Amino acid sequence: MNASIKAPKPIVRVPRDDLSPVRVEVASLSKSFGPQTVLADISLSVAPGEIFTIMGPSGSGKSVLLRHIAGLETPTRGTVTINGQDPQLPATRDRFALALVFQAGALFNSLTVYENLALYPLERRIHSKADIHQRVMRALHILSIEGAAHKLPAELSGGMKKRVAIARALVMEPQLILFDEPTSELDPIMSATIAEIIATLKEQIAITTIVVSHDRDLALTISDRVAILHQGRLRAVEKPAALRQSPDPVIQDFLNPKIDIRHPRFKQLEASHE
Ligand SMILES: Nc1ncnc2c1ncn2[C@@H]1O[C@H](COP(=O)(O)OP(=O)(O)OP(=O)(O)O)[C@@H](O)[C@H]1O
Ligand SMILES: [Mg+2]
Repeated sequence: MNASIKAPKPIVRVPRDDLSPVRVEVASLSKSFGPQTVLADISLSVAPGEIFTIMGPSGSGKSVLLRHIAGLETPTRGTVTINGQDPQLPATRDRFALALVFQAGALFNSLTVYENLALYPLERRIHSKADIHQRVMRALHILSIEGAAHKLPAELSGGMKKRVAIARALVMEPQLILFDEPTSELDPIMSATIAEIIATLKEQIAITTIVVSHDRDLALTISDRVAILHQGRLRAVEKPAALRQSPDPVIQDFLNPKIDIRHPRFKQLEASHE
């Protein structure tokens, strides 16, 4: 054999005998960055197949919590498990094909949509080329963006980029998908479309979904349960109907914010314009 010709890397099949959605357990999770405690004693359990939304004011620790579930952060105290396994272990992430859809999409600008979708599975050599092609086409179909397969990210609208980012996560057929602000920067119609896509994903593939969002309509419409995070603590975990009825003023203020133009901050603004 000619030594200069590289033998193709073997296809590494990750054992995925059980393709059902997974359970996520967060137990007494605390996280500090230096002196700042960002998450304080969070415990929650997300059931297989559930759509679970995490809401809360800016800076309340939502993204940090999501990153722990994705295995991208080490808890200061407490644990996170996916079907009993530690998400920080690459083997766990591979086994459940855990997918995180970042707010900004994080697409490669020099690659077409098709190439963006195929890149990770091709690199990991978890599936054959023909299999990857089928998976990519199926993901494009689920998100109704087949027509964009050969476009570059710069040629897409913001809403299409979001859809491509979701499609890329679906290629690996994840049993757990995590979304950070999937509808931010989108108009209300595209936001509703993305919410519908998230809601119908579980009819197309067996999947557990965790969404971090400020989008009240999305949270109260498509979620099985909603958690409210406030100053690093869990303020409530409720079904949407119960949350709407919550007597907690913090939750009501968050769900139904009112603009009070007599508030001192508007006076300051007025003064600064004079
Ligand atoms: N790597 C880090 N190092 C230090 N502090 C961090 C780090 N990541 C997050 N924080 C801090 O943790 C707090 C919570 O951040 P997080 O990103 O979770 O907020 P969030 O609820 O997602 O807010 P937003 O709605 O604005 O996205 C913030 O005060 C942030 O500055
Ligand atoms: Mg965030």
